[in-house]
Amino acid sequence: MNWSVVILAAGVGSRMRSSKPKALHQVAGKPMLSHVISAVRESTDADVTVVVQPEHIDSEEFRAAVDANTIFASQKHQLGTADAVRSAGEAALSGDRVLVLYADTPLIDPETIANLIQASSATDADICFVTADPPPVGGLGRIVRDSDDAVSKIVEEADADESTFTLTEVNSGWYAFPGEFLRESLQNVQPAPNGELYLTDLIEMAIAAGRKVVTVAAKVPIEIIGVNTREQLAFAEVELQTRYRKHWMSMGVTLIDPATTYFGSEVEIEMDVVIHPNSHIRGNSIVREGCVIGPNSIIDNTELGRGSKFLSSFADSARIGADCEVGPFSRLRPGAVLSDGVYVGNYAEIKQSTVGSGSKIGHFSYVGNSTIGGNVNIGAGTVFVNYDGSNKNHITVGDEVFIGSGSMLVAPLEIGDGALTGAGSVVTKNVEPGTTVFGVPARKQPGNGAPHHTSENSEDASHGGESHE
Ligand code: UD1
Ligand code: CA
Repeated sequence: MNWSVVILAAGVGSRMRSSKPKALHQVAGKPMLSHVISAVRESTDADVTVVVQPEHIDSEEFRAAVDANTIFASQKHQLGTADAVRSAGEAALSGDRVLVLYADTPLIDPETIANLIQASSATDADICFVTADPPPVGGLGRIVRDSDDAVSKIVEEADADESTFTLTEVNSGWYAFPGEFLRESLQNVQPAPNGELYLTDLIEMAIAAGRKVVTVAAKVPIEIIGVNTREQLAFAEVELQTRYRKHWMSMGVTLIDPATTYFGSEVEIEMDVVIHPNSHIRGNSIVREGCVIGPNSIIDNTELGRGSKFLSSFADSARIGADCEVGPFSRLRPGAVLSDGVYVGNYAEIKQSTVGSGSKIGHFSYVGNSTIGGNVNIGAGTVFVNYDGSNKNHITVGDEVFIGSGSMLVAPLEIGDGALTGAGSVVTKNVEPGTTVFGVPARKQPGNGAPHHTSENSEDASHGGESHE
């Protein structure tokens, strides 16, 4: 059977009080729409059409929230959910079966989608849809059943009388229809009291026409939460974080304080990782076995190698090798790459730089646009002066180099293997391997440094710092 999927994301979302479209509001660092798409992709390979407002059809943010195989359709006027489905277009509705989902239901479980597809195929019902009891949040459509317990209609909360209002079975907004039935029925929906065309009216219409309507129970009621308000958004976040915490603990991760440990949807964490309170692991981060994170850490889009320790620090789009130590109070910015066994102490900022194995950046340093070799010691207060006002220039530091405290390394610059800079040097010219430079601007130290010099050599001093470009 040929399935297609329609996801409705064209609502005004006025209850969010936001200039951002509701479907793009994030839960666990990922737009609600993306959660729905991920769940769909896990359960079916059907084509997906997302219905959006006309001004969002070329929106980069919407594009970024879906995958390359998703098609957009636009709903000209926000006339209600039935009109939104119709706006998906003929191609989207031409399949044998059409699955309709709402973009504001981020907790949707792929298994529930699979159950819905399965029930629709097995029962051949004209409408198959998911319900939950009791309602996880307010504002949901109530399922009215007759004396034989068969569904007779869905009544929106706003239109419910007192007895309907107290019914506890509610509508998820996830439906499966034979395409032909859907296409025909959408033509006949009449406006509700508020003027909207409700998709939910199809149920009463189907019953009146003697059609078959079947319900499928959600796995857990909370799964169907529809986010209309900021409060419901926070509620969905708490629920999703609770799931992620349980999941990672079940995978062998120790959370010292689960309630203050936050995960993004796409992270990967290996076993025997220990996470201390107030820590966030998000984006496409990967944390390898045996790492210790936090307290008070943010790891975003970053890989943390086996057995590394990351204390009270931030990392964004960085790569940290095995057995590294970072923090407290350091910041790894995009492009920071630490090889194995690197030590970054406190108040260091590292950006667009590769740091070789066993190197140490212990105290308040800025390291940017550089390549640093192995077993280098970067002294306290070193600054990689990488910006000349218009360009970011590169600095290369060889292996076994010792950068004295308070050195200013002015890019572009190359410092050879085994070289040394004296405390407080302002290094503006390349430094040859094995030499020592000092002072402002830094000059080669007389009779010191170069491995091939065994005694004092005054000639070296007079050329100090000049002959190395
Ligand atoms: C809807 C259901 C309700 C159900 C609940 C589940 C209807 C009439 N009611 O109510 O029975 O319990 O969802 O969460 O369907 N949309 C459009 N175009 C429109 C209007 C809405 O694309 O013109 C989209 C919205 O962006 C949203 C979805 O459809 O993603 C649902 O609309 P919303 O206004 O949130 O409906 P609810 O009042 O929550
Ligand atoms: Ca809703």
